[in-house]
Formats: sequence, C-alpha cells, structure tokens
Amino acid sequence: MKVRSIRGFHDILPDKIKRWHHIEERAKSIFELYGFSEIRIPIVEFTDIYARSLGTSTDIVEKEMYTFTDRDGSSITLRPEGTAGVVRAFIENSLHIKSPVHKLYYMGMMFRHERPQKGRQRGFCQIGAELFGSNEPLADVDLIIMLWRFLESVGITEDLKLEISSLGDLESRTNYKDKLKEFFISKNDLLCQDCVKKLDSNPLRILDCKKEECKKISDKAPAILDFLSDQSKEHFEDVKAGLSSIDVPFVINPRIVRGLDYYTDTVFEITTDKLGSQNAVAAGGRYNGLVEELGGTSVPAVGFAAGVERIVLLHANKYPEGFKQQLDVFIACLGKEAHIKGLSIAYKLRKNGVYTEIEYDDKSLKSQLKRADKLDSKYTIIIGDEEINKGKAKVRHMNKSLEEEIKFSDISKLPLKFRV
Ligand code: HAM
Repeated sequence: MKVRSIRGFHDILPDKIKRWHHIEERAKSIFELYGFSEIRIPIVEFTDIYARSLGTSTDIVEKEMYTFTDRDGSSITLRPEGTAGVVRAFIENSLHIKSPVHKLYYMGMMFRHERPQKGRQRGFCQIGAELFGSNEPLADVDLIIMLWRFLESVGITEDLKLEISSLGDLESRTNYKDKLKEFFISKNDLLCQDCVKKLDSNPLRILDCKKEECKKISDKAPAILDFLSDQSKEHFEDVKAGLSSIDVPFVINPRIVRGLDYYTDTVFEITTDKLGSQNAVAAGGRYNGLVEELGGTSVPAVGFAAGVERIVLLHANKYPEGFKQQLDVFIACLGKEAHIKGLSIAYKLRKNGVYTEIEYDDKSLKSQLKRADKLDSKYTIIIGDEEINKGKAKVRHMNKSLEEEIKFSDISKLPLKFRV
C-alpha cells in the first residue's frame, strides 16, 4: 500500500516554509509591541472543555471534533480552536491573581472534521490572541487594530475587509432569542431538520446553517443590532468611534453570528473575496462569560484567531516570487583533504553569520560549479590539492566573473564581504 497523508492534512514543504516564517515572525513582533506574550497550551483537552465553551449545539461540537476515548476511559478532543484551552490555562494557573490584565497569543495546529476544499483543511494553523481583564471598548479596539496591523505588515490588507457587529449582552440576547424564535417558528416548514431541532435549544445557531434554503430565510430574520440593551449599544458605539479615530476601515455587518456560543457584545471578521467560499481570514470577539462558565471568577475577555493557510494563500497571490534566500558562499572541494579543510571554513563562516553550503560528495569541479549556479551563490570557494599546498583558496565572485586567491586563515574574517 502506498503511504499517504490523511485527507485534509497537509505537509508544508521547505520551498513554502519561508512564507510561513515571514507571517509568524510578523505576528510575533507586532503582538509583542502591543504587550502580548506567547502561551503554549496542549493540543488535547478534556472534551467537556470544548463542549462547555463552544456550545453543544454548534457545528464544531456536534459534527467536527476529533474526539477519542483515552486509555483511562476519559473523553479527550484534539483542539478545534485555541480560546477554550487558553481560558482553561488562565483559570488553572490563577493568572488573574498575578496581574489584572493578561495579553496572550498562540500559534499552532487546530483540528476540525470539515469537508476539505481550497483554504479549508481538517488540520490547519491558527495565530490567535486573547486579552483578559478589561471590559472597556478600548480593549476591543486595540486588539482589532493589532490584528489589522499584523495583516497590514504581511502586506495583504488591500484584499481584506474588516466587518464588525455586536451580539449584545445577556439582556440583549434574551430579547433577541425570543424574537428570533418567533420568526423561525413562522417559517418552521421551510427549515432543514437540524434547524428545526435548534428552534428550542438555540435559535441563534439557525443563523449559521450553511444550507441554501435556511440561509434565504435567515437573511430575512430580525437583526441583533435592533435588540441591543443601552449598555451594549454604548459599547458598540465606542468601538466604532475608536476604530474611526485610528482610520482602520471597517463596515458594519449585522449578519455576523459566529459559529461559537461564547461571544458577547463585539464580534468581527476579516474577510476576502479572493479565496472563493472560504472568505474569513480572521475572526473573533468579546466573550465576557466564558471564564466564569469554565469555573473561574468573572473576568471579561476579548480575542481573535487568524487562519494561517488563508493568509499564506493571499500572500502567495500577491507575492508569487516567494522568499528564496540567496546563498552567500558555496564551497567546492576536490579530494579528501580539501573536504576536511572546506568543512572547517564552512563552520567558521556560518559562525560569522554567512549562509554557506558545502559539497559532501567527491564530485567533479564542473558538477559542483553547476550546483553553485543552481543555488544562485554569490561566491564560490574552490579547494583542491594545489590550494591545500599553497594555503590559499580560489574565491570566485559569481556575478562578476572575477576570481581571487585568499589565504585560508583570512576567509572566515570576511563575512561582511560575503554578505554584500
Ligand atoms: P473561527 O472563526 O472558528 O474562530 O476561526 C478563526 C479563523 O480560523 C477563521 O477565520 C479561518 O481563517 C481559520 N479557520 C477556521 N477553520 C478553518 C479550516 N477548517 N481550515 C482553515 N482555516 C480555518 C475561532 O477559532 C475563535 N477561537 C476565535 C477567537 C479567539 N475568538 C475569540 N478569541
């Protein structure tokens, strides 16, 4: 049987990895400017953590989780997202006692058993951030700006739209749920079986049903923004004013529902029309009840997660040439003694920060020079018996057709020259 990876799971090969490194590095440096620190959490949690956080009637919990029985009989799940695990870690390590505000970010694989297509995998990578300890609209604004700055520094915001809305507080949601239920009951016979079941358990979840007939009805349903309590209305107004003051472009989309139950007040999505039906590049919102729901004290929080594969796709559309790093030095060696000398020169050059490759096999000079050309090397050092005898190597400047002889002991002192 031919070996193959599992459907929906992908390798990221070395020719693609530079793009990933660039994106991850941008996230790290921008997030740290905003005072966020990295947190690394396990890839598995007890299933209950996700069921309680995301909501038992969400698509993720109902249909998409990779859930297993552990050897001791407990039910565990590969993380479908990062927020629930970060909240669990926040509570378990009593982080709220150590400081009133906590700003955490994470990067890593998430797992959802969805139908794979362009931009949608079963194993995918998220970069996310969670801010604990403030209910101020300013915190929402600062977090959204940080996300936008990250995507801007990756160079893809031209293709992106920031959409915001509010799901209101508990009071707003209770009023809205009643109205929504009334509306959907009147269309009962047009809804799919799954949605009919949700009428009682969680009518809000009908709004994110992907079936065409349900979507058509949802489009006509009342919008949450018309049911916001005074407090939620004021919070939303302040978020809009904050974003406007920094000139981050946004649109209000009252139809944002999010596929997770934990949200309250501000919600947002960053979308694109460049990736077909997988249009969400990043998304998040406020979740003031979740820490308490999982057993902690009442701590307000707001966060987001961005899909790295989708960012990579947008980046590759925009910058197809990629990120090939040009080789500084190639060392061609002829004979055993030359190889040993070459390896010690390579060691010293690399120690000085010079990107160096050396031929391990005893190949002809012609084939070694061909490889140096293929690697687009700036310099090639040639060492054979003659060079060993003289104590000097030939150094070829590849793009100037120039060759000079340099003492072995001087080569490693020339990193600046090689870096030109
Ligand atoms: P989410 O909307 O489920 O939110 O996912 C966030 C992002 O992850 C999406 O916008 C998308 O870019 C990416 N994503 C989701 N599923 C897939 C998939 N199957 N394949 C590729 N990319 C995908 C959350 O996960 C929340 N935890 C965000 C959050 C953090 N809210 C508050 N804090």
